[in-house]
Amino acid sequence: MEEELKKIQQEAVEKFQNVLDKKMLADLKVYFLGKSGRLTAVLKGMRDVPNQDKPRLGAMVNEVRALVEKMVFDAEEKFAQKELEEKLQNEKVDISLPSKGVKKGALHPVTSMTDRLVDICVNLGFTVVDGPEIESDYYNFEAVNTPKSHPARDMQDSFYFSENILLRTQTTAVQARAMEQIKPPFKIVVPGKTYRNDSDATHSPMFNQLEGLVVDENVSMADLKNMLSIMMKRLFGEDTMIRFRPSYFPFTEPSIEVDVSCPQCHGKGCKLCKNTGYLELLGAGVVNPKVLDYNGIDSKKYKGFAFGIGIDRASMLFTNNTDMRSLFKNDVRFLKQSR
Ligand code: DAH
Repeated sequence: MEEELKKIQQEAVEKFQNVLDKKMLADLKVYFLGKSGRLTAVLKGMRDVPNQDKPRLGAMVNEVRALVEKMVFDAEEKFAQKELEEKLQNEKVDISLPSKGVKKGALHPVTSMTDRLVDICVNLGFTVVDGPEIESDYYNFEAVNTPKSHPARDMQDSFYFSENILLRTQTTAVQARAMEQIKPPFKIVVPGKTYRNDSDATHSPMFNQLEGLVVDENVSMADLKNMLSIMMKRLFGEDTMIRFRPSYFPFTEPSIEVDVSCPQCHGKGCKLCKNTGYLELLGAGVVNPKVLDYNGIDSKKYKGFAFGIGIDRASMLFTNNTDMRSLFKNDVRFLKQSR
């Protein structure tokens, strides 16, 4: 038996030195330690060993067995390590490769123009106010000096839901709401959607306006002119000029229309401004005292000025766009262009 154990030990050392893969290792494990393996057979033979030899031989068997087990363990470790290294090698990520590029979105031209205008106004001390798009005839017309029979209603082809409810045709509707609620002096701006039954290259049934209203004790046309001049310079650049033309709105007296020097050709004349050097951008005026009184503000004490800017038009001037409809078609190519 002693001989047999020595032989097993020697054979094991040789065989484990030449293990090439996990399969061979598994086979070897079975060959030495399995149920009918070489060492197991020796162990079974212990029964027939005379008692006085049992301790010595028993110790020998355990020693050889521990040796084989250690060799199995070491080989297993070696293969596991090799496998891990291979895996790390194969799954390597090259962090120096260029990325596929993440597509960035952008604000819609009308949204960014609204943001710009609101920023400019907030910097000038205005507060932003909101109002409903579904409005009553009262606020949209009546309360801003445009009673039912007024011919100025013809200027705004309106979408009515019923006799007294309509889609607001102008953010001017919020002027009356504000005067009811806020005590003067105040400066408010109202950006928002407005609706009229009108559709061509320069009109859209839904469009955006920015309404401004200042009410204080001593405000005049000169203040309006100064305010608009500052705003337009901040919007289109320092060399921007503005021009007033007399006009008519029921809620202002006197009323004006305001042109800005063409931001594309700087007044020289181009396709966008039809060679006139100027573009019409907004309506404005000194608040009609009737509107103040009607909405509970004493017109003997307070004066006001107001303006209404077409936001979509302003955005078109900025991006040299001659068709308003392109703003609302959601053609991604167009939107990308005007980013
Ligand atoms: N509400 C007018 C429109 O939609 C624009 C306007 C003109 C607003 C004069 C004003 C203003 O506040 O004073 O055509």
